[in-house]
Amino acid sequence: MTQDELKVMVGQAALAHVVAGSVVGVGTGSTVNCFIDALAGIRDRIAGAVSSSEQSSERLRARGIAVLDSNAIERIPVYVDGADEIDPQGHMIKGGGAALTREKIVADLADRFVCIADVSKRVAVLGRFPLPVEVIPMATAQIARRFVALGGRPVLRAGVVTDNGCHLIDVHGLAITDPLAMELDINQWPGVVTVGIFARNKASLCLFGTPDGVETVRYQTRPDAP
Ligand code: A5P
Repeated sequence: MTQDELKVMVGQAALAHVVAGSVVGVGTGSTVNCFIDALAGIRDRIAGAVSSSEQSSERLRARGIAVLDSNAIERIPVYVDGADEIDPQGHMIKGGGAALTREKIVADLADRFVCIADVSKRVAVLGRFPLPVEVIPMATAQIARRFVALGGRPVLRAGVVTDNGCHLIDVHGLAITDPLAMELDINQWPGVVTVGIFARNKASLCLFGTPDGVETVRYQTRPDAP
């Protein structure tokens, strides 16, 4: 099977986790695009979607799915999104598609985070994929210096302005052995909008697309997780 076929397979498999009559949280990326296409087939059975990017909102609307204002939503049962990497505990690197901040916001509204990914995203330790960090433009250089001090190699994502009008730095060469501690630490740096480590609010489960079918892996979530 091709990688695209694996993405289609997990996009369809995620429908089993959608709660009938509810608002669905929708992430961003090529795997989520497959989920949105599948979701269109049951659009009459959901109350609409909360979206994590302009890109996903456009695709949802084009398929007849109402996109609701996140401020009008108190809780949603499920958020479905992809990942750039996922470790054995369900911690993820996200933001390859530049939508990490809104992804974290919508994920925070959800009771469960359903990750969908082809099996190539599975890693023992996060960090081979360069870590995306959304930053306030005037803090870019200082934040880059902080990453160099941590042993990373920060690279400004050229020509990219996020949906929130900010810069993105991709940090190469980090071995993220304690994702929760690193997420909490980097979140404190002045000018950081969002770090692309999803550990505080990690995946509840992941649907991995493999050549043998969909493999479901469930993760233990922390009691104080959102
Ligand atoms: C978007 O900002 C990312 O967090 C995506 O979820 C991630 O990059 C996965 O995208 P693909 O499904 O395209 O690999």
